[in-house]
Amino acid sequence: MRVGVLTGGGDCPGLNAVIRAVVRKGVKEHGFEFVGFRDGWRGPLEGVTMPLGIAECRGILPRGGTILGSSRTNPFKVDDGVQRIKDNLAAEGVDALVAIGGEDTLGVATKLAELGVDVVGVPKTIDNDLSGTDFTFGFDTAVNIATEAIDRLHTTAESHHRVLVVEVMGRHAGWIALHSGIAGGANIVLIPEQPFDIEEVCALVQQRFESRFAPILVVSEGAVPRDGSGMTLQSGDVDAFGHVRLGGIGDRLAKEIEERTGAEARAVVLGHVQRGGTPTAFDRWLATRFGLQAISAVADGEFGVMVALRGKDIVRVPLIEGTGELKLVTPEEYAEAQVFFG
Ligand code: F6P
Repeated sequence: MRVGVLTGGGDCPGLNAVIRAVVRKGVKEHGFEFVGFRDGWRGPLEGVTMPLGIAECRGILPRGGTILGSSRTNPFKVDDGVQRIKDNLAAEGVDALVAIGGEDTLGVATKLAELGVDVVGVPKTIDNDLSGTDFTFGFDTAVNIATEAIDRLHTTAESHHRVLVVEVMGRHAGWIALHSGIAGGANIVLIPEQPFDIEEVCALVQQRFESRFAPILVVSEGAVPRDGSGMTLQSGDVDAFGHVRLGGIGDRLAKEIEERTGAEARAVVLGHVQRGGTPTAFDRWLATRFGLQAISAVADGEFGVMVALRGKDIVRVPLIEGTGELKLVTPEEYAEAQVFFG
């Protein structure tokens, strides 16, 4: 059996650990051969490959990024995309594909599986917003990076009696903000799922100053003000999805807080730092177990599935479960953190 492997979408720490586990188990236990497809779906679409075996996977476990490269190419948006993929898989003698990616990559995998391509999915995203799995790898690393930043910002905020607004990733879901906010002892956490009221935010800022300590706000990049709450966004601030333009809400909030409270405020946008560098031990462990389960599914001839963490178990679920509705922070989970606000 010859197996193709690809990584698509935004990269995240742990991708290399998945590739390594897939290849090692595939070669050592099943005698499979592998081929790496470059840059997500662009690889099978354009027939761009690289050798992939145990030798290529040496030393990659602690490395962030992906040795295969990544892109957001979608073959369904390209003329004859599906046929070109089928032709290139046949030309490479590929019997099965392991596709490692997020919502978009697995969405493509789901449709290809329906069209007869033998594919197994592995879910990844630092945002942790894929349904069907309790956690995705990359999330723990991102939360740790954000938490370390918050820890550091507490001391400088206190020295200068400033408000520090920390903008973290999370276009649709506030998992990184909520987890790092709780872990880092933030005073306010703002997430896309719960539009915020700027007056309430300013009241919490003032309350925090009254206790002598400086306020730290953690805000997801996709957080938005509640309609009629007094803080409006200019048209240019909103992207095509109706979300605040990525990378903008932290600065906007800092400015608004300064104007309304008179306190000095600074914004720190963590951005792609959260996606880079070495994965945490948890992410290496989770990614490795995902990879082992994915190649077992290939060996069992079970396709159209993705691997998932359920409790302590790594299971296989229909691909569609990971690509349906996003997994969002519930009002109850958000409410639990309120006791630390202010
Ligand atoms: O989906 C993961 C994610 O990290 C989001 O949180 C973020 O908005 C997006 O990717 C950034 O993507 P890009 O690297 O394409 O700018």
